[in-house]
Order: sequence, then structure tokens, then C-alpha cells
Amino acid sequence: MDHLELIEDKIDEITEAIGDGLAISALSGGVDSSVCSVLAHRAIGDRLKCVFIDDGLMREDEPLQVVEIFAGLGIDVEVIDAQDRFFESLAGKLDPEDKRKAFRDTFYSVFGEEVLKSEARFLVQGTIAADVIETKGGVKTQHNILEQIGIDPQKGFGFQVIEPIKELFKHEVRRVGAALGLPEILYERMPFPGPGLATRVIGEVTPDRVVRVRKATTIVEEAIAPFKPFQAFAVLLADKGTGIEEGKRRFGDIIIIRSVESRDAMTAEPSQLPWDVLLSCARRITEEVSSVVRVAYELTSKPPATIEYI
Ligand code: XMP
Repeated sequence: MDHLELIEDKIDEITEAIGDGLAISALSGGVDSSVCSVLAHRAIGDRLKCVFIDDGLMREDEPLQVVEIFAGLGIDVEVIDAQDRFFESLAGKLDPEDKRKAFRDTFYSVFGEEVLKSEARFLVQGTIAADVIETKGGVKTQHNILEQIGIDPQKGFGFQVIEPIKELFKHEVRRVGAALGLPEILYERMPFPGPGLATRVIGEVTPDRVVRVRKATTIVEEAIAPFKPFQAFAVLLADKGTGIEEGKRRFGDIIIIRSVESRDAMTAEPSQLPWDVLLSCARRITEEVSSVVRVAYELTSKPPATIEYI
């Protein structure tokens, strides 16, 4: 089946499932949630409400970019500013799983409030095939979204989850995105994890530390994106290292550059990048992110490492 036929089929499926009801989707700006939101919007128009939860953990200018791109597609996106709630929930947490749990709980409580306010009875979710496989394989836990937003899945109260792209892999989702007319910046963008920059700050996630890793991420993306890696990003370590500033020793931050090649994120290899690109990237990070005194390039495959650091 070609992509246009697939799109028509998906739109028909969604139209039939939702009937004349109201639906809501949480856009993250990633390709998965974007593709399924556009499909649902094509199916039911403005009976779909798209919300973008600004958790303060996005990349540079991401919330604004998402709103503008969707406005260009004729889709209104409501931005929910929940940054303080996310940072409060992450305060003092050091353990990776505690941080993921704090993020998840906050996300679902903010989203749950929006769902209840919207009176929608259908949730459109961008689950893809890798999520389903990793859940079954025990690598990730894909929680029941209704339970997460505080709705008893047994009782249901008429809520239904719609997962239009759950049999597609990432590269297929990108092709559907292109066929739907999404801008390339959206469907070709590197995958970005749900908990955002919180997965790239080791130790406590504070607004100030997120600002540092965000700046470094922008530099890494600018330098490495032209080589079309599967993912390239910066990680802020909790450890410090000694550097020299104006002739004096200074104990400062350490940034790791991680760039990997992968097809479906199940396995990955470090990107073989030109040395001068890595050197200039490291130089820019130490110059532009003032707290950083050391930068290292990560050489580990998945497995044994995962792609993200937490
Ligand atoms: P790992 O780190 O498990 O990552 O090798 C595999 C792929 O999944 C992304 N990732 C996530 N995506 N929520 C997401 O939506 C998450 O909690 C999450 N953790 C990791 C990661 O960026 C990579 O593409």
C-alpha cells in the first residue's frame, strides 16, 4: 500500500472510531505525535483539540516552533505552561527512575486536567511499533494512558484511546509525515525523548542546569545535524572537572557529546564523525556555555549502553 492510501485508510478509521465525538491529543513536537494529530485533524477537524504541554525541558524555541508549524497547517495548538510544576516535581531527585517517574506523574496529571476540561472522550496517542515491542520485551513500560491520567480503565467512563500509527516504525512514520505535507524540519527531526532534557541532565534537574544543557544541545545539533545522524545531543554530567580560566584553576561542568546511528533505536552505533567537527563543537561548547570546562565524545554502542543517559 502506498502512503497516500495508508493515509486515506487511517483517516477513515479515525473518522469511524470518533464519529461525532470530541478528541484530544498531546503534541510533543516529535514526528509521532505530529503525524497522528494531523491524521486526526484531517478526520475530525476542529473537534480535535491539540495541546502542547510546555514542561520547560524542550530544546531551544521548540514550543514556539510547534505552534507556528501547526498554525501553518491550519491547526490551533494550545500551549499549557507547566514548567514550574515539572521543576518542582524534579527538585532534589537524583535517581534516573525517580526522575522519570516524577516527569511521568506530572505530565499525566497536567494532561489529565486538560482532558477533563476539554470534555473529549477520545485520546489520540502517537504510539509506534517500537514502543509496543519494547513494552512486550520488558525494556520500557508503556503504561495505560487512561489509568495514568486518573481514569479507571475498567470503568472507562466512555473514554477511548486511538493509536493510529501503532503498527508503523519510525522511518515509515517519517514517510507518512512527508506525504501529509508536514515540513521537513518536523518529520526529519531527530527523535527526542518524552522527558526531554531531563534525560540529559545527570543529577538534579534544575532550571539553571537545563539552560546549560539546552545551549550545548543547540551547538551539537547545529554541528552534527548536517551528517544526518539518527540522534545527536549533549549530556550534562553531575561530576565536575578541573579547567583553567584566566590563568586560574576552575572546577567546572563536563558535557558529553552523544551521536548515534540507528534504524529503529533498538540498537545503535556511535557516529564516525570528522575529528575537526568534534573539535570545533567542543570548542564552541566551552566558549558559549560558560560553566563548561571539559567536553568528551561518547564511544559506546547500544547495547550495552542505552542511547540516552537515564
Ligand atoms: P534508549 O535510551 O532507551 O532510547 O536507548 C531509545 C530511543 O527512545 C528514546 N527515548 C524515549 N522516548 N520517552 C520517549 O518518548 C522516553 O522516556 C524515552 N527514553 C528514551 C531515545 O531518545 C531513543 O531514540
